[in-house]
Amino acid sequence: MNQGEPVYSGKAKSLYRTDTPGQLYVRFRDDITAFDGEKKDVLTSKGSLNAMVSAKIFSLLEDHGIPTHFVRMEGDCGMIVRDLRMIPLEVIVRNIAAGSLSRNYPVPEGMPLDPPVIVIDYKDNARHDPMLNDDIIVTALRLVSREELAGIKALALKVNEILRRFFADIGITLVDFKLEFGRDADRIFVGDEISMDSMRLWDAATGVSLDKDVYRLGKGDVLEVYREVAGRVRTGDGQK
Ligand code: CDP
Repeated sequence: MNQGEPVYSGKAKSLYRTDTPGQLYVRFRDDITAFDGEKKDVLTSKGSLNAMVSAKIFSLLEDHGIPTHFVRMEGDCGMIVRDLRMIPLEVIVRNIAAGSLSRNYPVPEGMPLDPPVIVIDYKDNARHDPMLNDDIIVTALRLVSREELAGIKALALKVNEILRRFFADIGITLVDFKLEFGRDADRIFVGDEISMDSMRLWDAATGVSLDKDVYRLGKGDVLEVYREVAGRVRTGDGQK
């Protein structure tokens, strides 16, 4: 693979063109940020841990018939992906109340949510990713049609079921996670990453955080917990 010109650089990943039209190279960097980028650090090997976990999860989803942008892993820190026109939505699925749901509403942290709760935020850093509703998404922002939005929510719930089972098998409770979607022609695919940066994971036995909350809240050695999740994901791979 020849790394082509840079297309985009976000808070933790950089995107490059490749020799193959319609495919991009995503490099997971060692940067970690929180609170709209106010807190930031560089953690050696964090990029490779998130790249590996993302790649495993995308291939698991593909095996279950979910359309994703994933083509293949590339080196230790990268993935080759389908070039999508990204839709600026952050689609969050919550199985247990935590984070902003418990901060902003009188919903106690740890409360099971059944059926799972979907929250969709507008991906706009300058506006601090405000929460949307269906009418704002479809009628005001015109990001997707009502049918497409229904399809996105159904896909997010399907992904939730697959991931919940996968993580339960490796002793991890999937509390919540965030997906991003994009289009190629008229089809909608799951894009971006699915990693310890974008999921809330609790150890099923002890309830301790195994995700970016360790960094956000200064709860311990974030690299150690990322390594722990990556190790379990690697062994869980055989069970899918
Ligand atoms: O992280 P915080 O408590 O501020 O936000 P949240 O709305 O409770 O986050 C729900 C889930 O989405 C968590 O697993 C976050 O890691 C993830 N998320 C993300 O990956 N990127 C964002 N910009 C916001 C949330």
